Amino acid sequence: MIDLKQAEACAPPAPEAARKTLLHEFRTILEPLNLAEHFPTPQPLEVELGCGDGSFIVEWANRNRERNFLAVERLLGRIRKPDKRGRRIGLTNLNLVRIEISYFLEFLLPPASTEAIHVYFPDPWPKVKHRKHRLINERFPALARRALKPGGVVYLRTDHGEYFAQMLTVFRADKSFEEVEAPAELAELTTDFEREFNAQGIPTNRASWRMTGA
Ligand SMILES: C[S@@+](CC[C@H](N)C(=O)[O-])C[C@H]1O[C@@H](n2cnc3c(N)ncnc32)[C@H](O)[C@@H]1O
Repeated sequence: MIDLKQAEACAPPAPEAARKTLLHEFRTILEPLNLAEHFPTPQPLEVELGCGDGSFIVEWANRNRERNFLAVERLLGRIRKPDKRGRRIGLTNLNLVRIEISYFLEFLLPPASTEAIHVYFPDPWPKVKHRKHRLINERFPALARRALKPGGVVYLRTDHGEYFAQMLTVFRADKSFEEVEAPAELAELTTDFEREFNAQGIPTNRASWRMTGA
């Protein structure tokens, strides 16, 4: 007679039950995230800030299942799309965090936790009086430095020439970053906004900055 209890104990672990949502459900926003609760496997972490409809991060996470990904977005209507797509293709290495980016960087993302930060087509705030709202400002390199592991990289893209110039200025002023090339497999993958801009003939400005630890 088969002893069911013994058989159960010897059986390989059941595949992870399909997740109901990839959206992080906060118990508190007053403590840093416990990354072990986000992912079934501890693996190198990458973060996308302002993922929008999320087609980039879903595809990038799908192609890189040996890494974990956190994607941050404040709009629920947008972040629901990568949630749906990610679950449909069985991603367990993608978690979506609905929160304000600066707060996430300063208070929630554990220090020295991250190998790559992707920021693609952040809101340009083109009016001079609104530029103070830009994400990539004088403070941003320090926030990125806090989050990154040594050798970690910030990948930036924008359609907006003047904002791109600001991005270059703030990173060039920080001697702990050096400009590098993005890997070809990353560079070839476009985002939703990028495809729309490129279709209108608007080119993408790109820069990548590696933290040297200097
Ligand atoms: C122009 S869209 C680009 C989306 C995507 N990265 C792409 O390239 O297709 C910028 C996104 O960042 C989000 N966003 C802007 N500022 C934010 C903030 N402070 N916190 C969280 N999300 C923000 C917006 O809601 C929007 O979805």
